Amino acid sequence: MDVAGTSAVVTGGASGLGAATARRLAAAGVRVVVVDLQDDLGDAVADQVGGAYINADVTDEGAIQAAVDAAVEMAPLRILVNCAGIAPPARTVNRDGEPHELRMFEKVIAVNLVGSFNCIRLAAAAMARTDPLDHGERGAIVNTASVAAFDGQIGQAAYSASKGGIVGLTLPIARDLSSIGVRVNTIAPGIMDTPMLAGLPEKAKESLGHQVLFPQRLGTTAEYADLAYFLVTHSYMNGETVRMDGGIRMAPK
Ligand SMILES: NC(=O)c1ccc[n+]([C@@H]2O[C@H](COP(=O)([O-])OP(=O)(O)OC[C@H]3O[C@@H](n4cnc5c(N)ncnc54)[C@H](O)[C@@H]3O)[C@@H](O)[C@H]2O)c1
Repeated sequence: MDVAGTSAVVTGGASGLGAATARRLAAAGVRVVVVDLQDDLGDAVADQVGGAYINADVTDEGAIQAAVDAAVEMAPLRILVNCAGIAPPARTVNRDGEPHELRMFEKVIAVNLVGSFNCIRLAAAAMARTDPLDHGERGAIVNTASVAAFDGQIGQAAYSASKGGIVGLTLPIARDLSSIGVRVNTIAPGIMDTPMLAGLPEKAKESLGHQVLFPQRLGTTAEYADLAYFLVTHSYMNGETVRMDGGIRMAPK
């Protein structure tokens, strides 16, 4: 799919994987709407890429509709990349014998899974209204799962459930949207060097890197952005979840 002169919505676009993707798309001539809750970072990325920043919670129907409308105003909306996400760890029963807070479980599912679906449905409805390209193609959606969808670790019940949901919805939504020419793919990253891991000391990051088969380091945001760009532009990629993890298989902890 030729993306020059189109617009995109990138959620979580103020930071990490989303920010790198916003830059990658903009370099290819895409007008990007950065959706996030971090205003200073979001404004800075939007400035860098000549796009727009919109403060919107991915779970908020009206706010995401406004972000989609902003993208449509700039150029035909053909791209959504879902990167917004949270990963608070908690055991099902912690060392003090206390059960996992139910509200925290619900919140992770709400942001990572329901929020991704909210953006998909609203962006896809706008894509359906665009003129078709060659072979009826109208757009492409990339979601972000995690290797935790497959090898979730101790403390990742909520996160793994939310990411497993993303893997699960990829094929049925690709099927739903085939009639309007919109492809849907998902990236399941391994351990990526982003602000999500900012709390970890350098030594811990190094040790995580050594768990990777090859190359023995954390993944970079540019590597994620390259794959997202490939999935957006490659017209025969559809309904697939791609692990991008250096071959890591996560241990229980
Ligand atoms: N970093 C990793 O190792 C890793 C591995 C696998 C998957 N992922 C996934 O990749 C995605 C991007 O993560 P990242 O590492 O770039 O983290 P990050 O924290 O740098 O970026 C996530 C962004 O999402 C935004 N966000 C959070 N909740 C939101 C909401 N409700 N509405 C709008 N924006 C919201 C945050 O403000 C933040 O800017 C996440 O879905 C994460 O689960 C990350």
